[in-house]
Formats: sequence, C-alpha cells, structure tokens
Amino acid sequence: MERPLIDTYNRIHDNLRISVTDRCNIRCYYCMPEDGVEFVPRAEILTFEEIERFARIAAKLGINKIRVTGGEPLVRKHLDVLIAKLASIDGIRDIALTTNGVLLAEQAEALYRAGLRRLNVHLDTLDPALFQRITRRDDFHRVMAGIMKARELGFGPIKINAVAVRDLVEDSIVPLARFGREHDIEIRYIEFMPLDAQGLWQKDRVLLADDILAMLENGIGPLDPVPDPDPRAPALEYTFRDGIGKIGFIASVSRPFCLNCNRIRLTADGNLRYCLFAIEETDIKHLLRGGAGETEIMDTIRAVVHAKWLGHEINRGGFVPPPRPMYAIGG
Ligand code: 5AD
Ligand code: SF4
Repeated sequence: MERPLIDTYNRIHDNLRISVTDRCNIRCYYCMPEDGVEFVPRAEILTFEEIERFARIAAKLGINKIRVTGGEPLVRKHLDVLIAKLASIDGIRDIALTTNGVLLAEQAEALYRAGLRRLNVHLDTLDPALFQRITRRDDFHRVMAGIMKARELGFGPIKINAVAVRDLVEDSIVPLARFGREHDIEIRYIEFMPLDAQGLWQKDRVLLADDILAMLENGIGPLDPVPDPDPRAPALEYTFRDGIGKIGFIASVSRPFCLNCNRIRLTADGNLRYCLFAIEETDIKHLLRGGAGETEIMDTIRAVVHAKWLGHEINRGGFVPPPRPMYAIGG
C-alpha cells in the first residue's frame, strides 16, 4: 500500500471530484454568463480512458470516494459507461453524481445499471418562473421528472443542492424543505460563493446558513444538529425535531470547512486542483498523453496535495477569486 495523500496540515485526502465537461445545458446566473460562453475544445477534454487511468492511480494513493461533476455531467455522452468503469476500480467504495437533473429522467436507468446510487440534484426553487429566471431555461418540469424517476428506480440518498442567494430565493426555502420532508430527500442549502462567471458575487448577496435555519424553524418547526457528525463532511446537518426530514448547509462563506477538507479536483481538461478556490493548478493531461508512467503521475498527485493551502480567504480583504468560474472547475 502506498503512503496516503496527506498534506502539510495533516489532512488526509481520500476524495476525488472529477469534472467530465465544462458544458452545460442551462445557464444558472450565479455560475454562467447568459451567452457567449467559451467552452474548452473537445480535443482538450480528457477521454473516459484517461479519466479511468487517473482514477485507478489515485485509488492506489488512498482515494476511495469519487464524485462526478461538470458543467453538467449528463451532457457528456454515455456517462454511464464512465460510471461503470469507475465503479470497477479497486478501492473505490463510493461514487456520486452532481447533476442539474435536466437529462436525468432519460439517463437514470442506465446510470443505475452502471452502479450509481448517490445523486445530488441541483434545484433552487419549486417555482417554475423563478427557476427560469435563475437558469434562463424552461426546464423545471424536466428536473422534477428526473428526481421522481430517480426515486422510483431506487437511487439513494438523493440530495437537492439549492444555492442560497439573498433577495432572490427566500420564498423558496421553506417549500423546498417541505418537499424534501415529503419525499425523503435531504435539502442542502449552499451559500452563494464567489465563483460566478460575471463577477456578480457580493458578500451581502449571500443568504447565510443561520438565516435559512431561522426561516425553516419559523416556517416548519425546530431543527436539531445531527449527533456525531462526520467532521470531514462539508455540510452541517440538521433533522427536524419531529423526525421527518434532514437539512444540510454548505456554509462556505459563514463557516468555512477548509480545516477538514479531504478533496482534490480534476478538471474536464485534465488539470488537478487542491481547492475549488485555488489559483494554481497542475496539468495532468500532458502526463496522461505524454506516456508518463504510474510513478510520475503518483508523484504529481502527491505534489499537488503537498502544495495545498490551509484554506480560502473569502472573508478576508485580499480574497482573489479563482481564474475559472464554477462550471470550468467542477462543483
Ligand atoms: N455558489 C454556490 N454554489 C454554486 N454552484 C454553482 N455556482 C455556485 C455559486 N456561485 C453549485 C450548484 C451545483 C454545484 C456544482 O455548485 O448548485 O449544484
Ligand atoms: Fe450548469 Fe451547474 Fe452552472 Fe447551473 S450551476 S449553469 S447547472 S454548471
């Protein structure tokens, strides 16, 4: 067994996020510009074989959990084939997918057959008109159909990711939680992060976890923190006191969880990043395409983990947003 991936702050890295495309079929305004998006040319995107090879090598270094993201991962053709390849890797115990859900109804069965069970579906509101304002597309009903289809097929856990933007989604907070309670789906509210393509982020547009918590307690009922939480999970989780339904907060702005971070990220064009907010990244594609051996790739992964900083500084004056927006990094 190789030495695990431990950084200079003693954080063990066992979690890999793989972005399979920077393309997306909708245009959430806190992520993408409305039009004129420049995508990475297809030849620069890693093939499934390249991704699989990288993941196999990473698994030997102790990576045991993979999340597939985008852009929107389901716009990549035959994603189920990649899922099956990843699921077959020794040491990978857990595979999850983050999707906007638009193509989920069509692909859910193939994904399930490929071995996928864990799904995070991105949905900010149950109001179709607001959905359209946020995503600039009219696909609300397709997303809902995708969620329902996934439930029918037996996916689980299914979680909903809702980005929390102040003066925008307040009226959606309680209805989403009610929906989650009804269908046994955890709703995760994600504080709006400075990763949008247009530089719209401002601190006062972040709807904070504490504010959402208060809205939920007023609108539905008391919430209690989940006992013995996994210290390395980014979400702060709560259950309703009546025992029905779970809520999570990804409070990246008000309560950064960097100290427990266990993640590295591979971008669709083959760069390795130690943080969502990292300024620097390391080109893995030229290694994969240039005939590099396993040892060289392992050494490069170790070097990226070794270079990892303590954490992002959204809350400091000097915060510099990363040079790529969310869709090009992979949430
Ligand atoms: N702030 C917070 N979350 C974001 N996402 C996309 N852009 C942002 C942002 N600016 C989330 C989406 C998606 C996940 C990959 O990242 O909800 O589920
Ligand atoms: Fe697409 Fe996700 Fe960005 Fe929305 S947040 S535009 S679904 S990549």
